[in-house]
Amino acid sequence: MTRKTVIVANWKMNKTEKEALLFMDEFAPLLKKGQEAYIAAPFTSLPALVSHETSASIFIGAQNMSQHKNGAFTGEVSIKMLRSLGVQFVILGHSERRHIFGETDEMLKAKVDLAVDEDIPFIFCIGETLEQRESGQMEQVLRRQISSALKGKSGADLKKIILAYEPVWAIGTGKAATPQMADEAHNYCRTILSEIVSKNFAESITILYGGSVKPENSKELLGQSHIDGFLVGGASLDPQSFAKLTNL
Ligand code: PGA
Repeated sequence: MTRKTVIVANWKMNKTEKEALLFMDEFAPLLKKGQEAYIAAPFTSLPALVSHETSASIFIGAQNMSQHKNGAFTGEVSIKMLRSLGVQFVILGHSERRHIFGETDEMLKAKVDLAVDEDIPFIFCIGETLEQRESGQMEQVLRRQISSALKGKSGADLKKIILAYEPVWAIGTGKAATPQMADEAHNYCRTILSEIVSKNFAESITILYGGSVKPENSKELLGQSHIDGFLVGGASLDPQSFAKLTNL
């Protein structure tokens, strides 16, 4: 089965609006013809990025959204607000949201339900901590994170999902998973998805790897049969290095 390669920048809390636009000016001409790229930017840069005059092949997304539709939720941003800006996708459940901001499986199920109802493409992140991996709990953690959000949904419900496997110990540490480790984890995710959704869905879903991806380690990772692309933090902040990653 051939799946589309998807390369996503996760800028996290970096770049002012002006810096985001400078990035685009430099990055857009570097993108190979016919190549797509995805950029998840801070909320404050989204309007400018969405209306930036680049080719249609750069998709702009948010890094989070509320699980609520509207109401008394100070500081939160709703899906309707993102949609009204023309935002094209959203990241849900990034490990920094889970571990620093306390997002639980229950909250993430509500976010995934909302994304499915509203038909917005979303990247759902999962991954184990170092402690969980070292104590042999990796499979159990991945199963829990995937099942709690996706169980009961059909392949049709999930036609706009992308899964991102990001081992917490590899994020921002410079210590990427080996290609074999990442491939094994991705394969295990497909096993779970085959059980809870369908075999066909498990084979067709795009699964990204994230955690210290850089131009130097990207080719070997992407060469693995279950790795369909990347969610890139640090190496996506520089236009030249992100272009190297997208133009693989
Ligand atoms: P990193 O971050 O590439 O800086 O490790 C990846 C991520 O958090 O998505």
